Amino acid sequence: MSRRPVIAGNWKMHNLQQDAVDLTNGVMQSLREIDKAALPEVIIAPTFTSLYAANKALKDCGCGKVRLAAQNCYYEEKGAFTGECSVQMLKDTGCEYIIIGHSERRQYFGETDEMVNKKAKAILANGLVPIICCGESLEQREAGVTDYHIASQITKALRDLTAQEVAKSIIAYEPIWAIGTGKTCDSTEANRVIAMIRNVVKSLYDANTADSIRILYGGSVKPETIKEQMAQSDIDGALVGGASLKVDSFSQIVKGAM
Ligand code: PGA
Repeated sequence: MSRRPVIAGNWKMHNLQQDAVDLTNGVMQSLREIDKAALPEVIIAPTFTSLYAANKALKDCGCGKVRLAAQNCYYEEKGAFTGECSVQMLKDTGCEYIIIGHSERRQYFGETDEMVNKKAKAILANGLVPIICCGESLEQREAGVTDYHIASQITKALRDLTAQEVAKSIIAYEPIWAIGTGKTCDSTEANRVIAMIRNVVKSLYDANTADSIRILYGGSVKPETIKEQMAQSDIDGALVGGASLKVDSFSQIVKGAM
């Protein structure tokens, strides 16, 4: 089974609207020579306030090489949930993917495995693709509970999803100690954990589903690390934070994944 690689840029809380438009245009410009079929699935995830502007820039270009993601959503359709955005609203703004369960959301905003599961269901019910994040802290790694913790996060995130839904979802393995620290997880170790996640999917569903789901690595991915990461058997791409904020580094990562 050959899985299409994915390179997703998580812009986090950066960029005003004009910055977002400039970065979006810059990324598209940097990929203009490359045939769409040769590219990985390239995704950018601006803040809520820049989604409309970034989507407009993507549409104006019309090359279809870059797709839009949100960094979060709420699982209810509508109602008295001040400050939240539903999946329908994000879809209406052009999003095709939504990142859920990022460690920063879990740490600072109390996102639980149960919420991640509800969000995944709402995203899939609306025909969008969830990018489900998981990852262990340094303490958990040192205590030797990495695999147990990740398997538990994934099992809870996927609860009650169908095999078809899981097959089209994306998981991002992001060791918390590697996020924004410049300390990339060793590629063979990242691959080992990602293969373990694939095995969890296989035991919950079947071999086909495990073969279809794309599992990314995230945590200080840089142009210098992407080739080795992509050479691993189970790593299907990257969720990129810091290095996605510059056209140069992001496009080098995209090209490195080809
Ligand atoms: P980083 O962030 O690439 O800056 O480490 C990755 C992420 O949090 O998704």
